[in-house]
Amino acid sequence: MNISRLWDEAQWDAEAQKDQFAIDVLTGLCSSPKQLSSKYFYDDHGSELFQKITQHEDYYPTRTEFQLLDEVKQQLTMHVEGVEVDIVELGAGDGHKSQLILQGFLEKGKKVNFYPIDISEKAMELLNEQIDSHPRLQIHPVVGEYFDGLKFVRKQSKNPIFLLFLGSNIGNFDRTQNQGFLRRLWKHLDHNDQVLIGFDMKKDVAVLNRAYNDSAGYTRSFNKNLLARINRELGANFDLDAFQHFGSYNPILGAMESYLLSTSAQKVYIKDLERSFYFAEYEPLHLEYSFKFLKSDIDFLSKQTGFEVVEHFSDSKGYFVDSLWQVQKS
Ligand code: AVI
Repeated sequence: MNISRLWDEAQWDAEAQKDQFAIDVLTGLCSSPKQLSSKYFYDDHGSELFQKITQHEDYYPTRTEFQLLDEVKQQLTMHVEGVEVDIVELGAGDGHKSQLILQGFLEKGKKVNFYPIDISEKAMELLNEQIDSHPRLQIHPVVGEYFDGLKFVRKQSKNPIFLLFLGSNIGNFDRTQNQGFLRRLWKHLDHNDQVLIGFDMKKDVAVLNRAYNDSAGYTRSFNKNLLARINRELGANFDLDAFQHFGSYNPILGAMESYLLSTSAQKVYIKDLERSFYFAEYEPLHLEYSFKFLKSDIDFLSKQTGFEVVEHFSDSKGYFVDSLWQVQKS
């Protein structure tokens, strides 16, 4: 496997990463209400816990999307012309879903160049183990930020791009961020390139609340792991037992919201920030939004950001949509 790394050691400064983390924690804990960014969930332990969440029966999105892609993988290929396609995936996870899509194109006789892009080199190595080799498949993992990776792939690509952004990762952006992200994606693509985006749909609140409060407590540990990360990396003294996980659907926002509630009045010291933060009894610390969609929201988003919907692929319960869009440029 030939991994392309988009930074050299000088650029990829662990110190700079840590400084950014410290600044974001400082800004978040000084905000009212207090908040921390969900992008920091995914250290090694957080990624392991997230994988456990996705395999738990209470968390329906991963298994629903996997079954859906298995059903429609052949149909997806019908919208791509030519004998060769460049499949780009942003944040490919463990590669189970990528494998299905690659299989669909390979079974149709296409030659496939697969460019998974992820910030984590470890994720790229794990992914490579998941993907079965095939004489018509070339894998070119790219370790870097999504848009740096996409720019890099564009320079090498001579074929239509079929870009995957699965798993409802789009739902972790708020309504403004998702339009910014999609428009940026549009800018990096050519007319007639295609994107397949996973959207978790609005549904029975009981199903939603169960998914973000799994009975094994993985989601609770996943959220509290962020406090453990701050303890470890920034020298804080958060007492993990003094916070309660609270995940609940907000119908006005159309999003699951995750909080940690401070179960007592307490003071937390963060050595690297050289200061303490006060939490009142039951004061919330906001961690994550997970937005849910209607088909009309997806149509609106695609139009606003320069794409045309080719087809919405949905499971029989209507829990999840993988929506195929074509880039429109004049
Ligand atoms: C990564 N993302 C799509 C997950 C979600 O469902 O919003 C993250 C997650 N948070 C709690 N459970 C899963």
